[in-house]
Amino acid sequence: TTNQSWGGRFSEPTDAFVARFTASVDFDRRLYHHDIRGSIAHATMLERVGVLTSDEREAIVQGLGEVEREIEAEQFPWSVELEDVHMNIEARLTEKIGITGKKLHTGRSRNDQIATDIRLYLRDEIDIVAAELARLREGLIELATREADTIMPGFTHLQSAQPVTFGHHLLAWQEMLTRDHERLLDCRKRVNVMPLGAAALAGTTYPIDRHVTADLLGFERPAENSLDAVSDRDFAIEFGAFASVLLMHLSRMSEELVLWTSAQFDFIDLPDRFCTGSSIMPQKKNPDVPELVRGKTGRVYGHLMGLLTLMKSQPLAYNKDNQEDKEPLFDTLDTVQGCLKAFADMVPAIEAKTDNMFEAARKGFSTATDLADYLVRAGVAFRDAHEIVGQAVALGLREQKDLSEMSLDELRQFSDAIQADVFEVLTLEGSVAARNHIGGTAPDQVRAAAQRARDALATL
Ligand code: ARG
Repeated sequence: TTNQSWGGRFSEPTDAFVARFTASVDFDRRLYHHDIRGSIAHATMLERVGVLTSDEREAIVQGLGEVEREIEAEQFPWSVELEDVHMNIEARLTEKIGITGKKLHTGRSRNDQIATDIRLYLRDEIDIVAAELARLREGLIELATREADTIMPGFTHLQSAQPVTFGHHLLAWQEMLTRDHERLLDCRKRVNVMPLGAAALAGTTYPIDRHVTADLLGFERPAENSLDAVSDRDFAIEFGAFASVLLMHLSRMSEELVLWTSAQFDFIDLPDRFCTGSSIMPQKKNPDVPELVRGKTGRVYGHLMGLLTLMKSQPLAYNKDNQEDKEPLFDTLDTVQGCLKAFADMVPAIEAKTDNMFEAARKGFSTATDLADYLVRAGVAFRDAHEIVGQAVALGLREQKDLSEMSLDELRQFSDAIQADVFEVLTLEGSVAARNHIGGTAPDQVRAAAQRARDALATL
């Protein structure tokens, strides 16, 4: 027999391998709920415009409800011969309610159906991602508040640069995630446009009302152009781009967490429940969670490149190529949700080893810029001040002492502009407290920035 969905013009059945090769049901069955939701809206609209009777609509809605319950009870007879989620559900509906089931597809094509399903599905998943992002941001803001006074070395080139507060460092992460959050919500606006009604590519001859279906499905509006509506997957690419930037950020945080948990840095402790041991080295406690997040960045970048390449040079309108959008999109979603959950659970449990951070900040002449700024305030030109402090650092390196450990006389051999009050700026506390402006590392600024971030998150 030929295929029951489109076999009319065929004289032989599909080759068995080709049927398996072209089928998508193994992965697109994940869309069943949104497919059914779309079908109910479509049938409801068809009734309103007089294409279906209310009894027919009633039977379809009833039947689709049964189908959904079967799927959820894992009693649904998924069939690869029926190719995809749409035809599996429609065939089962027809088995249940008879000929009326065959009317559901009036004025619709799988092309606008699948484009609608993915958008509905992605919209719900975006809301889950956004909630996890908010939870992670909240955790960072609270930890930053707790650690507003904790001093650590700030780095450039991974060399000690200037002391900063740990809270300030955490709020830097929070800022990165704020932009990701904004990108996500912006992407959602373009996801939330309805392809349904585009039918195969040109629209349909039935008197459909696309505003009715758009309202029923919570879409912002019907897509403007039927050819574009069934063919483009730029919204999935956009989500992939959001996800790639997010994972890039998470990988940077991961890298720092991995460094900080090493014996060489020893800045933080991650609770045992986020770490694993070694089967050979009994002493080991490995930061597997951040390492794995760092590693998963690769697959998310890969999916973005896959989706971009999938769409490259495709002629209008729908092409079967687009079936390849699902696996990368689904895996991106799974990966992003997993990584965000791991981070949101882990961040509040980070324990700062404040003494170690402080000791590390004392090394590496991290207050050298403070001494230069002090000299400038005493009337020395900045370039000269830079040279003077450089000489003081050279002495410190020779004699293995920090600037704050030198005597006033030792310091004054480089410049007589140096007075006894210099030691106030050479302390780490003085150094961070002096950077007291919006965006600076002073503890008071960190507390204020945390409060602004908390407010911004609350009004989202
Ligand atoms: N499985 C297809 C996809 O994922 C659904 C649309 C198929 N349409 C078609 N005319 N073959 O894109």
